[in-house]
Amino acid sequence: MRILSVVGARPNFMKLAPVARALARRGAVDHVVVHTGQHYDESMSDVFFTQLAMQRPHYNLNVGSGTHGKQTAAVLERFEVVCNDLAPDWVFVYGDVNSTVAAALAAVKLGVKVAHVEAGLRSRDRTMPEEHNRVVTDHLSDLLFAPSRDAVDNLRSEGIPVDAIQFVGNVMIDTLIEVLPSAKAARTPERMGIAKTDYVVVTLHRPANVDARETFRQLVKAMVTMSRERPVVFPVHPRSRASLETYSLMEQLDGVMVLEPLPYVDMISLINGAAVVVTDSGGVQEETTYLGIPCLTVRPNTERPVTLTHGTSQLVPPVADELVERVRGAHNARRRCVIERWDGLAAERIAQVVCEERSFD
Ligand code: UD1
Repeated sequence: MRILSVVGARPNFMKLAPVARALARRGAVDHVVVHTGQHYDESMSDVFFTQLAMQRPHYNLNVGSGTHGKQTAAVLERFEVVCNDLAPDWVFVYGDVNSTVAAALAAVKLGVKVAHVEAGLRSRDRTMPEEHNRVVTDHLSDLLFAPSRDAVDNLRSEGIPVDAIQFVGNVMIDTLIEVLPSAKAARTPERMGIAKTDYVVVTLHRPANVDARETFRQLVKAMVTMSRERPVVFPVHPRSRASLETYSLMEQLDGVMVLEPLPYVDMISLINGAAVVVTDSGGVQEETTYLGIPCLTVRPNTERPVTLTHGTSQLVPPVADELVERVRGAHNARRRCVIERWDGLAAERIAQVVCEERSFD
């Protein structure tokens, strides 16, 4: 059996890692990895392959940055050629980025079956580019690997055939469990000189937060205020860095520890020691929930409601004073949250579904 996995952006790589390992344990699978090149910097891409001990991608489509249309179209056009040449039995796509929807569309038009890893998440916010990617990818896919019960319910309510939906659990948590010992050993907070203090980690990159000047200004103001009380560590995504420069906000971040994007192991090490995390990332909401670290999610909604109902996350508006108050009030119980099938075995279940025709409902 030949399976092509298509990945393109940072959050895809940690989802690929456990699936690649589970497929490698099946001798009969020829697993080929195609990187679209949506993310291309060492710190946004290569370092994840190194740290997660993954084989380098067999193909790189080098699509790079661009508008949504340009980026999506480039993946469609270039992936079609590779998919046609390799004639796989399955194309696996991951998450909700532009590369995900483009690769799924190219594959189905060639008559190749598509499996979506992390299917069924819905924010119901159509102003998010990722929401379109999720909905379209799910409705193109033949097999839908859901990370949580709410995702299963979403897919059923949209009329996706029940047999196509497999509740396998969360592959992101597989990776988190795998790297946790190395993350603890990395002692990243110690190396940054903040281990013995309460500190706050901030990650922001959603267009709604960083592309709008006034919103980003509020978030910068909140970080500066918080940094007068305890260390604030802010690894900056390239999109956010560009906005900080355009809006002349970088120089206002006085007192905040502004860093380049961190490698995965260091990021987990830092999150694991944090008093509070402030984020707009999907993956970080899940990681903090698993680790039991309070997470203030700067968004009006989330496609991961289980992190609100069973986890440590709370939604907050991008308003400086309110954010500062909520961070002050966040209580770190350091109690791990237990969520069904977030157990380190999701990728193994995926391999069982595809290779052994098992079913998980
Ligand atoms: C993308 C995903 C988002 C995901 C995020 C994780 C879509 C629609 N969005 O958003 O779901 O949460 O990745 O990081 O697919 N850039 C670099 N170097 C890189 C990558 C990007 O400099 O390696 C810069 C480019 O200037 C680019 C900008 O970052 O224009 C944004 O990159 P892009 O891939 O378009 O979207 P993200 O905001 O990263």
